[in-house]
Amino acid sequence: MINKHKNEKPSLVKGLSSLDIKGLAGYIKNGYAKKILILTGAGISVKSGIPDFRSPGTGIYDNIKKYGMLEPDLLFNRAFIKNDPKPFFSLVKEFIDKEYEPTDAHYLSVLFKNKGLLMRYYTQNIDSLDLKAGLTPPYLIECHGHMRTSTCTNSSCKNKIPTESIKNIIIKGQIPYCKKCNSLIIPDVVMNDDDLPEEFFEQLDKDFHECDLLIVMGTSLQVEPFPGMIEDPPLNVPRVLINKEPVVTYVEELGEKNGRLVEISEDRLSQKFKFGHFFNRRDIFLGGDLQSNILELIKELGWEEDLNKLKSKQI
Ligand code: OAD
Repeated sequence: MINKHKNEKPSLVKGLSSLDIKGLAGYIKNGYAKKILILTGAGISVKSGIPDFRSPGTGIYDNIKKYGMLEPDLLFNRAFIKNDPKPFFSLVKEFIDKEYEPTDAHYLSVLFKNKGLLMRYYTQNIDSLDLKAGLTPPYLIECHGHMRTSTCTNSSCKNKIPTESIKNIIIKGQIPYCKKCNSLIIPDVVMNDDDLPEEFFEQLDKDFHECDLLIVMGTSLQVEPFPGMIEDPPLNVPRVLINKEPVVTYVEELGEKNGRLVEISEDRLSQKFKFGHFFNRRDIFLGGDLQSNILELIKELGWEEDLNKLKSKQI
């Protein structure tokens, strides 16, 4: 029989009073979070009008035919694009055709920066809304590149130009070619087999070693290295996922050893998220609509006025 006295839930990590918005806000307000790491994905920009990639029905990959292709995996395939650039450029057109505005998720990250609490902001997004909101290097690391500049695909030319200078061509549905060598020229987005940009690696180990809070927002965490990155912070660092559905979690399996509850899941030694687990001491999942959760957190932090000031300056 399991001895109940020996099986009280383990205490939460230092500074966390509960695994919810109030607990998170308390951790920040009480000064435990001075080196916040943020990881973001396409879900934070959906409210601006840019679809994400994998949401069923609305995501870019479910609507791939709209861009004139059948296989989502080929959208960011360099060889395919060189052979048939049209589908990729119809996606680029969607990103550069309209003036999209940042969301409260972007602004929350700027508030962290302005208050001296942000260590780094790693994004997979290519929409430049982080930069538009006010996140700049060395805080901002655009891990999958961006569309502000474009580079000639001819390896002996590599002419780099502002995408603005070929915007009209792309918007008309035409394909841009390099003025120097006449080869295809494409925006500086990281393609499937490309290395991540150098700046991604520069502070990575230090950041994950030293951070005191990890916030992950709007990503399905299906593209490496992001899923692995959430496992890197020290075990006493709270991790927060703000996303419609939980991702990178494992199924808890409890057993008994010497009258004590123990985790027997094969995965127990990994550091995947432990939302709802008996032994969860630090992982907070804020599910459902991301922007409502962000706003609630901003209110709980007492930063509504800061948010409004920030937004009015940007507009
Ligand atoms: P995904 O489309 O894979 O994931 C977006 C996540 O955001 C999903 O889990 C959604 O459920 C969630 N989401 C969307 N709207 C939301 C809302 N209103 N509230 C809460 N959650 C919401 O996008 P990423 O993870 O960013 O590569 O995709 C990673 C990479 O895959 C992208 O960077 C892209 C693609 O290959 C490049 O652009 C080079």
